Amino acid sequence: MPRYTRLVSYSREDIERIREHTDLAELAAEITKVKRSGRSVMAVCPFHQEKTPSLSIDPGRGLYHCFGCGKSGDIFGWIQESQSVDFREAVELLARRAGITLTQTPGEAKRRGRREELVRATQAAVDFYRERLKTGGDAGAARGYLRGRGYAGEVVDRFSIGYSPDAWDELTRHLKGRGFSDRTLAEAGLASRSRVGRLIDRFRGRIMFPIFDLRGDPVGFGARRLEGDGPKYLNTSETPIYHKSNLLYGLNWAKGDIVRRGESVVVEGYTDVIALHLAGHPIAVATCGTALGENHLDLLRRFSERVLLAFDADEAGAGAALRGFDMAVPGDLDLRVVMLPEGRDPADLVGEGDEHLLVAAMKDSTPLLQFSVDRELAKHDLGEAEARGRGIRAVAAMVARHHDPLVRHEYAVSISRRTGVELRLVEEAVASAGRKRQPETTRSARPRSHKLSGMEKAERELLRLIMTNRVEMRKQEIDEALFGDDAHLAAFRLIWPEIQKLDPGATPDLGRILGAGETDEERLLAELALEDRPESDPADVINRLEVGTVTRRIEQLQRELESLTGTDQEYSDKLEELLALQQQKQRLRSRE
Ligand code: CTP
Ligand code: MN
Repeated sequence: MPRYTRLVSYSREDIERIREHTDLAELAAEITKVKRSGRSVMAVCPFHQEKTPSLSIDPGRGLYHCFGCGKSGDIFGWIQESQSVDFREAVELLARRAGITLTQTPGEAKRRGRREELVRATQAAVDFYRERLKTGGDAGAARGYLRGRGYAGEVVDRFSIGYSPDAWDELTRHLKGRGFSDRTLAEAGLASRSRVGRLIDRFRGRIMFPIFDLRGDPVGFGARRLEGDGPKYLNTSETPIYHKSNLLYGLNWAKGDIVRRGESVVVEGYTDVIALHLAGHPIAVATCGTALGENHLDLLRRFSERVLLAFDADEAGAGAALRGFDMAVPGDLDLRVVMLPEGRDPADLVGEGDEHLLVAAMKDSTPLLQFSVDRELAKHDLGEAEARGRGIRAVAAMVARHHDPLVRHEYAVSISRRTGVELRLVEEAVASAGRKRQPETTRSARPRSHKLSGMEKAERELLRLIMTNRVEMRKQEIDEALFGDDAHLAAFRLIWPEIQKLDPGATPDLGRILGAGETDEERLLAELALEDRPESDPADVINRLEVGTVTRRIEQLQRELESLTGTDQEYSDKLEELLALQQQKQRLRSRE
């Protein structure tokens, strides 16, 4: 367990009181079959498929361990696992169950209030966009588009679809009129500050698909362009309540059916999720403007072991295989590839009345490993000795990653049949690939997907310096523009307001501020706070980051200039700014 989990924000006393008042055997009996014989308590494990009990409960200590799937934990872990909630929610739930009133620390109450405020603002935006879609004189084209997609009024209602007016700040003005502050709008990712300091709407002239978290709270949007240029889909950027690596569109609606049906389907986007729901398969989810990652799979795994990937055939299987899911995935996840006919996406199939093809493809899904092996073998000319050898080495390496020796053997048999190479040799190739396997490819290592760039390192260093609240650091001018990375920015927004409340030099109470390390920002900051390298000079770090700020602005101007013509006033203004920035960058560089 990482060290920083001890920085919990509910008081120890409360937590221990809940423990005393909760009988794990009783708790388990609420959702699964529990057998008591003498002092030992066994239960049918609700975390994997089984008929005979292999989960052992120690009611005295309030701990469980499953000999079948290896899951273990305490009463809070039990609730987190079985109800898919975080630690805080588990504490609250068990406190309610035991009739205990929690004494919240001020930091906790405050952060909670902040989250609620951001959700409230997002909900108000959902309402605004919906109303606009229904009644706006400017939403005719949007209504036409949705009708054309076959979304009747009831579909629009069911998914809370809306329309963002094509204007600078209509939402901003509306929400401010309802008492939301500038800061809330910016933090919720609904508006951002223009260069002249004015707040403008992030989404303009787009079909709005609200994105809900697991609990069903709206936390952000996916927004489809209607006409004009700009990206086809624009999503909410990282905010304290919107973390794309932990969010799946549709999971709030789908989770019950996923558990009941024992499988989920990952599709490419919002429209595919909706199509599958409409076609009577409400088990579809999609990532929100990012690739499917390990966190998404962890999330899905809480609801079912079987996960179907139904994107474009090549992308789904190949993409997943290339990103190493077949090796990173733990044994209890059955990841399968759905091969969609002729590169048509689920939305196309349902829209064109071919949903039977979709259903058939889902039934015929292929295990990801099988898919990868087939694909790899197809690349080699098996009629030629050298190529056959290379092909076998390549697939042996894939098969070697499977945790189950029986399954590895089955694959070896099938590879031997298909290539005509003796089974013994194929088995040997698999075994030898297994021995060579790098330890860091195992899941537990969880390597970051890329090496940190110099700028990313500097951003992290600044976060670390901020947490020390050193006097020299506080003398610097620090603001959001210094951060180019969304995750670092989110962490900055969490920590900086807390530090600013303190006198320079005072020691911040990181335990209170970072809580139990539930969110990505909290985890990142906790990790940084525990690093014990010597601290850099704040002025140097900031100088470095200013180069990044200026570079980002220069790149943005260059993009904007591309779409303007030389005679525009705007063009010459921007060009002038660009030249000034380039000089500034030179100056900063020379100080480095
Ligand atoms: N998507 C995305 N970003 C893009 C393109 C697509 O996030 N730049 C996601 C969206 O969630 C979308 C799904 O992928 O719902 C399907 O993509 P696509 O078919 O391109 O979007 P549609 O809105 O269906 O557009 P079209 O009418 O052209 O099919
Ligand atoms: Mn489409």
